[in-house]
Amino acid sequence: MFPLLHLFIFLCLSFSYCCYGQIINSSSSSCPLDFTSLRKIIDQNSKRPTLNSTAQCQYIRQGLRLVQSEYLRRTNSFFPPMSSADSCWNSYQSLVNDYVQNFDIRSSCGFQTAWISQGCMNITTRFEFESKVSPAAITNIVSSCNQSLENNSPCATCTTSLSGLASFLPGPSVGNLFDCAAYPSVYAAAFANQFGPTDKGTAKCLFLLDVSVGSSGKGKKSVVVIVVVVVCVVVFAVVVFGYWFMWRKRKIGLAKKWNTKRLESNLSSRLDSISGSTTLIRYSFDEIKAATKNFSRLNIVGTGGYGNVYKGVLPGGIEVALKRFKNCSVAGDANFTHEVEVIASVRHVNLVALRGYCTATTPFEGHQRIIVCDLMKNGSLHDHLFGTRHEKLSWGIRQKVAIGTARGLAYLHYGAQPGIIHRDIKASNILLDESFEPKVADFGLAKFTPEGMTHLSTRVAGTMGYVAPEYALYGQLTERSDVYSFGVVLLELLSGKKAIMEFKDGQPTLVTDWAWSLVREGRALDVLEDSIPHLGPPEVMEKYVLVAVLCSHPELYARPTMDQVVNMLDAEIPVPTIPERPISLIADLDDIERSVSSGGNSGNLSTAAGYQPYIFERETPLADSDSVRARTLDQRSR
Ligand SMILES: *[C@@H]1O[C@H](CO)[C@@H](O)[C@H](O)[C@H]1NC(C)=O
Ligand SMILES: *[C@@H]1O[C@H](CO)[C@@H](O)[C@H](O)[C@H]1NC(C)=O
Ligand SMILES: *[C@@H]1O[C@H](CO)[C@@H](O)[C@H](O)[C@H]1NC(C)=O
Ligand SMILES: *[C@@H]1O[C@H](CO)[C@@H](O)[C@H](O)[C@H]1NC(C)=O
Repeated sequence: MFPLLHLFIFLCLSFSYCCYGQIINSSSSSCPLDFTSLRKIIDQNSKRPTLNSTAQCQYIRQGLRLVQSEYLRRTNSFFPPMSSADSCWNSYQSLVNDYVQNFDIRSSCGFQTAWISQGCMNITTRFEFESKVSPAAITNIVSSCNQSLENNSPCATCTTSLSGLASFLPGPSVGNLFDCAAYPSVYAAAFANQFGPTDKGTAKCLFLLDVSVGSSGKGKKSVVVIVVVVVCVVVFAVVVFGYWFMWRKRKIGLAKKWNTKRLESNLSSRLDSISGSTTLIRYSFDEIKAATKNFSRLNIVGTGGYGNVYKGVLPGGIEVALKRFKNCSVAGDANFTHEVEVIASVRHVNLVALRGYCTATTPFEGHQRIIVCDLMKNGSLHDHLFGTRHEKLSWGIRQKVAIGTARGLAYLHYGAQPGIIHRDIKASNILLDESFEPKVADFGLAKFTPEGMTHLSTRVAGTMGYVAPEYALYGQLTERSDVYSFGVVLLELLSGKKAIMEFKDGQPTLVTDWAWSLVREGRALDVLEDSIPHLGPPEVMEKYVLVAVLCSHPELYARPTMDQVVNMLDAEIPVPTIPERPISLIADLDDIERSVSSGGNSGNLSTAAGYQPYIFERETPLADSDSVRARTLDQRSR
């Protein structure tokens, strides 16, 4: 009985402390961030379109960066201390509520409380940031950003110099709130620009805060404080009453009926559901049916071996994609739920975010498992390259898709805990949002494909071209199988050709073999699709081709890791020599011999500006540090 008593005393104390703390800390002064400047920026704006929730979360994130930049300017620290995370969210929430009603930032945007005090690579202060980047890069951003950024051309100069910093910050980030990519602009607004983050031009250029969130409503703050006070007093009273009631019961000897164990398990399951609900929503089957108009055929946006994907609208007009697995049984549900929780905890700008899930058994439809994700407006990469969307992607977009996908995968492999091997990277699993930011879909779900399906899909022509040889032949699965598939997707993206280009006499021609034979002849640029709009510099485009060929190398040890790929695509790091390939099992031998002997090296896109096409080196570069390291890593992992 006494432990129980102590628990209640503890609860009482912590509740009263919480109430007390919240009353004191509900004024924005206790959170060290100053949101009033953001309010001023919003009020300055005359145009106020109503934004949908995706755009709203984006603005909320950008607004927070502005506030953090100002905080950085004052204190040399990017983030408020963890102890004030809650009160900072509350301050921000009350600001947002003055413009949009009924919008809870954290639950609507999927942000966790701690994220406001965390960044990437352990950089929290100005000096830690400066020690990570080169002094020349800092001088460069000061010289290009120390001017009014209101007009497009100075803004472009500044943001170009900032993108140069990205290569210094390759690490994974916390959620999608303050990722590595956010540091340069927050830093530049605080220390490079003389007008500071709250200047209208700076806010517009570096934080994209040109319009404001929502409309109408003001002066809710005092109401919020009163509500908080009342709620706390009521909660306190209830707890005190509960304690008194317990005490009475104990005194009159009825307390034996209380089953301590049951209370404890209740408590822990409640805690479970609380911590669960901050990341993931558990939908009822009725909600899902309402969202998809009872799984209307018109709402189907995709099909696969696992089942159908539906488009749906949640209450509040939020558009989502719902994936319904077929042939499920109740048996694996606990496992499924656990996996979904793990997947939901993995968040990155380049990964499709999971909103929630549903498991239910109905008399007519049997057992159901459904997951709910954000809907991507621009469909999949497959649609753009080979499908219904005919406009050719510009070089800039291709580059963005390549780097973003690589970042997403690098995060899955090395940033997520536990690391995740995707197993099914292909163009139709790379989704594009409204600004063509790529989002890798379906990670961690490969294991839910019905039994035998994975085996089957390696035989089906559509996905065969993506599977790494060692996985297809021997079932040997490492993160380098994902690297292979990524290389194939990258080749598709660059060449506009499918993984399996054609069948000749029943033999498939693989895009990897074709690209390799061109690279070998020093004609890497011939891999690129004809008439790509707005071509990039030839040496950059060639580098992308070489990275793609290296990633899709048939021998596992030759492939780089996704971290290395990100660094090669993003920075000045050169592509290592590509080791010689064994003769492909399926490529036509005559073709290869012919292409070797023709041996031309007419990079027809080369310019007079001193660009030298890649020259293939014949000796196997065993001494090459990258491939040696790759091999030792590989041996260690066996
Ligand atoms: C409230 O803010 C003060 C500083 O102003 C801090 O010392 C205290 O821990 C905060 N209380 C809570 C519950 O966060
Ligand atoms: C949200 O609004 C933006 C424009 O403000 C639009 O591009 C985007 O497609 C919309 N997204 C959704 C999910 O409606
Ligand atoms: C961040 O710090 C933690 C502990 O302080 C350490 O384990 C981790 O390796 C650090 N991460 C990076 C990227 O430096
Ligand atoms: C930016 O320019 C202003 C005026 O030209 C100068 O006073 C200031 O020191 C400069 N800021 C930096 C960081 O160099």
